[in-house]
Amino acid sequence: MEKREDKLKEVISHAKEYGYVFPSSEIYDGLAATYDYGQLGAELKKNIKDYWWTAMVQMHEEIVGIDAAIFMHPKTWKASGHVDAFNDPLIDNKDSKKRYRADVLVEEFIEKYRDKIKKEVEKGRKRFGADFDEVQFLATNPNVKRSQEKIDDLEDRLSKILGADDLEGLKAMIEELNIVCPISGTSNWTDVRQFNLMFATELGSVAGDASTIYLRPETAQGIFVNFLNVQKSGRMKIPFGIAQIGKAFRNEIVARQFIFRMREFEQMEMQYFVRPGEELTWYEYWKDKRIKWHKALGLGEEYYRYHDHIKLAHYANAAADIEFDFPMGYKELEGIHSRTDFDLRKHEEFSGKKMQFFDPELNKNYIPYVIETSVGLDRMFLAVLSASLKNETLEDGSERAVLSLPPALAPYKVAVMPLTRKDGLPEKAREIMNELKFEFNCQYDEKDSPGKRYRRQDAIGTPYCVMVDHQTLEDNTVTIRDRDTMLQDRVKVDELHSIIEGKVSLKNLLKLG
Ligand code: GAP
Repeated sequence: MEKREDKLKEVISHAKEYGYVFPSSEIYDGLAATYDYGQLGAELKKNIKDYWWTAMVQMHEEIVGIDAAIFMHPKTWKASGHVDAFNDPLIDNKDSKKRYRADVLVEEFIEKYRDKIKKEVEKGRKRFGADFDEVQFLATNPNVKRSQEKIDDLEDRLSKILGADDLEGLKAMIEELNIVCPISGTSNWTDVRQFNLMFATELGSVAGDASTIYLRPETAQGIFVNFLNVQKSGRMKIPFGIAQIGKAFRNEIVARQFIFRMREFEQMEMQYFVRPGEELTWYEYWKDKRIKWHKALGLGEEYYRYHDHIKLAHYANAAADIEFDFPMGYKELEGIHSRTDFDLRKHEEFSGKKMQFFDPELNKNYIPYVIETSVGLDRMFLAVLSASLKNETLEDGSERAVLSLPPALAPYKVAVMPLTRKDGLPEKAREIMNELKFEFNCQYDEKDSPGKRYRRQDAIGTPYCVMVDHQTLEDNTVTIRDRDTMLQDRVKVDELHSIIEGKVSLKNLLKLG
């Protein structure tokens, strides 16, 4: 089986080779953890956004979308708690001069016990074959139980230390566990310090007028501060939602793993405003709805799992992540949070403006409670790309790299090709493409042998290739080749539209969600 690190490297190099993702400002040797989306990446990203926006806004009459500015009044971030508490604990190794997130060092240490459990399970499965009962094995095997006790103990201690902002305790834990720097191999650590993740800049060019503002670290606050504007101008009634897609910025201490953790990234967030007391019902509703949206892509149910938060942020009364099995293992893809009335209440306090809704059925005013769904667009991109990239050995022994992207998300829906560059075939191919391109993003390709052209389209994930040959000139039929089965059918040119539409329409996904 392919190693996970190899898979990530393969995804990165495929993404670069075919114009999906490039290191940013590469001619100047790149900028750490910053990436540019290329010609195909921009299309894939746009299609993911369309899928999200259509599912959230178009399919829900009670949800509307906005596009708020990245810059916001500095008081916003005081009210939301980001100025005082949007920190990560960092620690430096004095020998390697490398910087780490102190909590992540401990989490990675805990992860080793999880790996031990996985290995025991694999051994058990081999030993007991078809009789293997994983649930019973996990509950009774002494090695597994020992590892699980260790995990529970360490997680409990870490959670208490983080909850109390006990930076000395965190350093003591790192020393006690004898965690060493992976580069220097030493445990020569500095003290742990808090590091605020917001990027600050100055507004205004005259020094006296300048004031510190922040690049938003989440899009959500643009929604909260517009709650009243949208509610009143859109005559919205509770429950209702406001959705937004946009850039967010965080000065991550350790930004790595390709586009998984970046300093500039995009979020797709929705705040759903509900009656106080009804929030946990809506929380369950959105948990279920969002995982269905992900699974409708057809990448495989096994890629997804929930991770319910045990330790909750001070403003939340329930929270869960939808995790995805990335090449680096299961990691957070989306967060679903029951944020109570914390944000609106704080904005009411800091702005002096009432952030309330008059509920005609209850005949009273209240600050609504909020359920938030927040998914990283770049993480969605990585999830889709890594699960779709496959290397297949064909019956004749040859290899092909295929990107079996969900057809609705593929950058090009169809490639139109003349069999040869003569006899009027290119003209006919262009004529067909000129009709199709009103509905579908198409690529025209006449260079190299048909086999090579098919491989190129497989590698970029184009669901269909249409080949125009001499028979086309006689009876107006073409062959259409399916990316996944590689089977070719001869069909009438007039049928192309409905065949392609049937495969690539977003409707196929939306009906499942
Ligand atoms: N408004 C809630 C919020 O921002 P979060 O869990 O900090 O919650 C939500 O972020 C989502 O944004 C995450 O699930 C992840 O998909 C994405 N995200 C967060 N930090 C990121 C980063 N540095 N790079 C890429 N995506 C990130």
